[in-house]
Formats: sequence, structure tokens, C-alpha cells
Amino acid sequence: MIIAIDGPSGAGKSTLGKMLAKSQNLLYLDTGAMYRAVGLAVLDANVSFEDKARVAEIAENARIELVGEPENLQVFLDGTDVSAEIRNTQVGQAASIVSTISEVRRILVEHQRAIGETAKNGAVLDGRDIGSVVFTSADLKFFVTAKPEARARRRYEEDLEKGRSTSYEQTFAEINERDERDVSRADSPLLIAEDAVVIDTSEMDLTEVFEQMMQIVQEKGAKATVNLT
Ligand code: DC
Repeated sequence: MIIAIDGPSGAGKSTLGKMLAKSQNLLYLDTGAMYRAVGLAVLDANVSFEDKARVAEIAENARIELVGEPENLQVFLDGTDVSAEIRNTQVGQAASIVSTISEVRRILVEHQRAIGETAKNGAVLDGRDIGSVVFTSADLKFFVTAKPEARARRRYEEDLEKGRSTSYEQTFAEINERDERDVSRADSPLLIAEDAVVIDTSEMDLTEVFEQMMQIVQEKGAKATVNLT
């Protein structure tokens, strides 16, 4: 079973993806964390984002590992735990820039497919292009979205909770900047796959959204059983 969850940042994809993976006993793959790890590797190497060939080389050579259970997933870059570092704003912007480079996408998509295909029971992948590029024949595709104000509010509260210094206005501006880059890039822009179930979480509690998604997952499971008999 492959479940794709795409959508803009701050819509609740990762929280929902982790909940779904846990309840269905599936692997959870945060593909954004992979782009973030490449972004961090480029910053660490002090390489210009303009130098696409060098950036692609860094992506090719980076050893990115996602380890542990969905709720406390750790991200390692070349053996170092970078789980906290990749969440800062600077790395978020770096991830958004490296994700516009086709060669970087090709390398990471290849990894993502290999991980999804070899996962024991299947996987939940969250990102921007899972249903439209990485797994076009996923069993289920969700597009989780919310108004920019709601997404910025959530991200801002999350940052406050984690002790990161920021303001709502700054978070809102950053969300808009990333949205703009994610939807306008030439290669694999953020879009709603034709067969995706669209869920707007602006006015909903994430537990309510999760229940809706679970119902759809269960219906899908029931249909698969019917088809088999
Ligand atoms: O989901 P996130 O905010 O951690 O993602 C970081 C950046 O990576 C985001 O700006 C878009 C990019 N990304 C992407 O282009 N494709 C994916 N499948 C996942 C993330």
C-alpha cells in the first residue's frame, strides 16, 4: 500500500502522515526532510546555489538516512543527526532552492521510489510531487492544504513551542515565498494530482482530518478485498 500526501508547507501533512503510517503499520517517509538535508549539506559546504552541478554532486554523494518510528523520526546526514538543524528557516529556504534543480530531484526521487518499493507493508510518503511524479499509481493520494494564514499560524505556534525565535509576520512571509517557489518551478511543481482527494484543514482540527482520511483508507482497503474475491 502506497499512500501519497502532497500539499503546501504547514498544512498538516507530516502530522497526518505520521498518524496514518502508525495506524496502518506502514513506513513513513518525509521527503521534505531529504530536500532539507541536501540544503543543509550545500550550506555546510559553502557552495553557491547557482552552481547547480556542484549542488547536484552534493546531493549525489550525501548519505541521507531516516531512522526510527514515525513519531520520533531522526534524520542523519553523513552519519550526523541533523533532525533539529534541518528544521530551521535558513535550511527550509535552502531546501526550497535546491528542490528547483532537476538533477537534485532526479536523485532524490530515485531514493524515494526505492525506499517506498522495498518497505515491508508499504509506505506513506509526504511531499509535493508524490502523487504527481514519485508514485503516480499510489493506492491513495491526498492533497492536504489550508489557507496561508492558517498554515503560518500553525508553523508559528510550532516554532514558539520548540523555542525558535520568530514572529507571525516573518513566518507568513516565508510561507508565501516558499509557496511561490514550490508552485512556479519548472520541474515537478506543487500541483493537485487528478485522482487526489483534496482536504482543506484551515477550519479543522487535525484529529478530525485524520478520521476523514482513515475512513477513506478503510474504504480503499474494503474495495481491494472485494476486487480480490
Ligand atoms: O515539506 P518541507 O517543508 O519539509 O519541504 C522542504 C522543501 O522541499 C519545500 O520548500 C519543497 C521541497 N520539497 C519538494 O520540492 N518535493 C518534495 N517531495 C518534498 C519537499
